[in-house]
Amino acid sequence: MRPQDRHIHPIADRLLQRADKEALLGQRGCVVWMTGLSGSGKSTIAIGLERRLHEQGIFTQVLDGDNVRTGINNNLGFSEADRTENIRRIAEVAKLFAGSGVVTICCFVSPTLAIREQAKAIIGAEDFIEVFVDTPLEECERRDVKGLYAKARAGEVKAFTGISAPFEAPERPDVRLETTGQALEATIDDLYEHLLPRVRKA
Ligand code: ADX
Repeated sequence: MRPQDRHIHPIADRLLQRADKEALLGQRGCVVWMTGLSGSGKSTIAIGLERRLHEQGIFTQVLDGDNVRTGINNNLGFSEADRTENIRRIAEVAKLFAGSGVVTICCFVSPTLAIREQAKAIIGAEDFIEVFVDTPLEECERRDVKGLYAKARAGEVKAFTGISAPFEAPERPDVRLETTGQALEATIDDLYEHLLPRVRKA
């Protein structure tokens, strides 16, 4: 125990258990961890996936840059240390959601093996489903939905993933989604079919 923790009294043993909440919801919690380059389609796929699951009575929560980097992580930038802290906090939050039986869909670049390993270690391997949105850099740059690739090439955005900061592709993701040459709905279908048996209570 760290000295600063000696006046902290955990209440976990007095809380309702995860199994009680999962029974109430009729589903099993997990974290669907989507990794991929900026503009690869993570959030778009997550939005479609969430709607599909919701229609089937599955309770979900999406965490992505828009609701996290503008809120709980609004003091973090894109240095390696800040990205590591960004993902650490997100993983801790996702773990709380999953522990309440929620299917938690995380959409973050999470660019390195070490960062994703950290997330997996916090969340727990049994609850961590790694999904690689495998859109090639050329395609993300061609789409350039937010105009950030052009700015990164011009040097106006520093340390931009894929251009001036690394992206390490997952070696053995649980699911690999290729978004080029495939309709969005088909990509969402693939992921949905993979997840449904995992989240539905028998
Ligand atoms: S992560 O690397 O810490 O996992 P995160 O997913 O939260 O990144 O945020 C990535 C989003 O922030 C990108 O989609 C892009 O819109 C924006 N962004 C701004 N600056 C950068 C940068 N230097 N590198 C990557 N993404 C950036």
